[in-house]
Amino acid sequence: MTTRRAFRWPALLTPDGRGIAFGGDYNPDQWPDETIDDDIRLMREAHVNTVALAIFSWDRIEPREGEFTFDWLDSVIDRLGKAGIAVDLASATATAPLWLYEKHPEVLPVDRYGHVVNAGSRQSWRPTSPVFKEYALRLCRMLAEHYKDNPYVTAWHMGNEYGWNNRHDYSDDALHAFRAWCEAKYRTVDALNEAWGTAFWSQHVNAFDEVLLPRHMGGDSMVNPPQQLDYERFGNDMLLDFYKAERDAIEAICPGKPFTTNFMVSTDQCCMDYAQWADEVDFVSNDHYFHEGESHLDELACSDALMDSLALGKPWYVMEHGTSAVQWKQLNTRKRHGELMRDSLAHVAMGADAINFFQWRQSRSGAEAFHSAMVPHAGEDSKIFRGVVELGRTLAALSDAGLQGTELKRSGTAILFSATSEWATRSETLPSMKLGHWHDVRDWYRAFLDAGSRADIVPLAYDWSCYRTIVLPSVLVLSDADVRRIADFAEAGGTVVVDYATGIIDEHFHAGLGGYPGAGKGLLRDVLGVRGEEFNILGPEAEGEPDAIALSNGLTTRLWQTDVTSVAPDATVIATYAGEAAADWELDGTPAVTSHPYGEGRGIYVGCDLDRHDIAALIPSLGLGDVTDSRIIHTIRESADGAIRFDFYLNRTRGDVTLEGVPGEPVVAHRTEAGTADRADRADAADATIDAGGTAAYTLRRNAILITTTVRRV
Ligand code: GLA
Ligand code: GLA
Repeated sequence: MTTRRAFRWPALLTPDGRGIAFGGDYNPDQWPDETIDDDIRLMREAHVNTVALAIFSWDRIEPREGEFTFDWLDSVIDRLGKAGIAVDLASATATAPLWLYEKHPEVLPVDRYGHVVNAGSRQSWRPTSPVFKEYALRLCRMLAEHYKDNPYVTAWHMGNEYGWNNRHDYSDDALHAFRAWCEAKYRTVDALNEAWGTAFWSQHVNAFDEVLLPRHMGGDSMVNPPQQLDYERFGNDMLLDFYKAERDAIEAICPGKPFTTNFMVSTDQCCMDYAQWADEVDFVSNDHYFHEGESHLDELACSDALMDSLALGKPWYVMEHGTSAVQWKQLNTRKRHGELMRDSLAHVAMGADAINFFQWRQSRSGAEAFHSAMVPHAGEDSKIFRGVVELGRTLAALSDAGLQGTELKRSGTAILFSATSEWATRSETLPSMKLGHWHDVRDWYRAFLDAGSRADIVPLAYDWSCYRTIVLPSVLVLSDADVRRIADFAEAGGTVVVDYATGIIDEHFHAGLGGYPGAGKGLLRDVLGVRGEEFNILGPEAEGEPDAIALSNGLTTRLWQTDVTSVAPDATVIATYAGEAAADWELDGTPAVTSHPYGEGRGIYVGCDLDRHDIAALIPSLGLGDVTDSRIIHTIRESADGAIRFDFYLNRTRGDVTLEGVPGEPVVAHRTEAGTADRADRADAADATIDAGGTAAYTLRRNAILITTTVRRV
């Protein structure tokens, strides 16, 4: 286990260095010099106080090998700083200049078919290339030397979205690094042979130099799953090592400034094991792009719930999001009126103390010219720029109200997430290729919201012992040690919810024996009081077969049912499979949902997949969650001493929502109208320790957010 670096937050250039950070990626290298003064004028108008600078500027800084030119960057940083705008300076290694690839084509990654990946985009380098590393670290050292005493550079932005384009590299550099990684992990080839199950298909390894990367093996050949899983871990580790080498190169010269790199947590991707990465940054930051359609707000909150746990409850940084549409999907939905403000403040509601966008000024050319920005093609006379100015004003008001540094209050339920299980559920060797751990986490998260409650999302590897309930949706991989922790949690009085695809394999992708779920050598079955023997898999591919099965409590399963053949005598069967389709599949009366006392707590088993509406119906019937109001997302941020508290209310519906009895003074009421309730009349309804003027009623329109603050008597 690594120890986490101390939390350090970048200072602003305000008199006390404090305030909510607001700004975006700034790419002045795309524009003539005179645009920069205009940018700064507009930044000031919008209350921008931070930019992330030089992310893709390597070719400007080192136009030819060994020739470093800082003049233009000095001038930009100086003008920004004098205008009160702090710089989060990039290591500038996310994309390398073309001269480097011409001279050293051996740094280019290789795909699984053995094709060399071409230069011309971003991150066209192998994380394991010693040649590339030398060039990158030299650049880092040059930047650190040049800017170590610059008062306007208040944080370092390492790389950019490590692994976005070079997550999987099958080059010979990677092969050699993988062999070394395996040797460090397993120490003996016997241990590797055992872990990889190489007795299968004659894959015995005699020495570490026979270890292979899971390259394409022809036709539909399947990769050995434990080898694949280790390759995912290895790729994560190589990029993390690369990040650390860059960070350490800068820190050795420029100590004392906070380091970060922008993660890519949203529920359509989570390619790295950020539970590890979060230990290696001084403050956690993320890039989040909204999902179009009805999941928009829920998905944002779900991603942020994981972010807040990665930050261990400390404030975190939105490094990038969009003022409106992106340009990289089939259909790029724009944001509706109010969503720019709502999304930004929703991140704040979920614990963010920095709101930044990709990017400041919308590009005229290049691959991202049609990606929204803070200053759009239309210019300053535009809805988007006016929205940005309004947002800047609002964040300044929240800074003045003392929001910065307050922490998000935890809920009583933790949904557990594991990058290993996310990688494992992508394997093509499982009972169904339709599994997705992170998507199941998202469905449970949304179901809790639908049930009027809010859950947190916590990495499996972290400490979740303070929660009342843990939920494990498709946490396919559980080691013996994981199961031990889960059993101890139940033993001590916690409620454990395990679903159909949880605990099927161990960390080496070995199936547990003796019945499903087999993880922990049977201990997980003991907690749950169930034993299953087979999986019943449904789908439209099975032509003419029933493709959905009803449960006795009115719910429906459509993909996976564990054929539970025995339950412990002290277990309660909450629902069985029932009806014609169940009978057709020989599951009529088979337990589908069970509850079992274990120690002071209980183990609940949900033996089949359910859609989120059905999970939402199940949650209250199992006595889970704290029911509040399904129409809103309500979060609370509090100072460590409890003296100041902020309540955030976000409207989840498409219509108006009226809230009665809202405590505290409003600080932000975006698309929100104060109701008629008389605050004085209602003062007695307020928490006795609350010193504010009572409670009030408000109507929240679509995309509304209301933020109130309460100062307690000290
Ligand atoms: C083929 C192969 C077997 C096994 C089965 C699995 O028949 O010969 O080795 O892989 O497919 O269905
Ligand atoms: C990522 C990158 C940015 C930009 C945006 C576009 O977040 O970090 O450079 O490409 O995507 O959405």
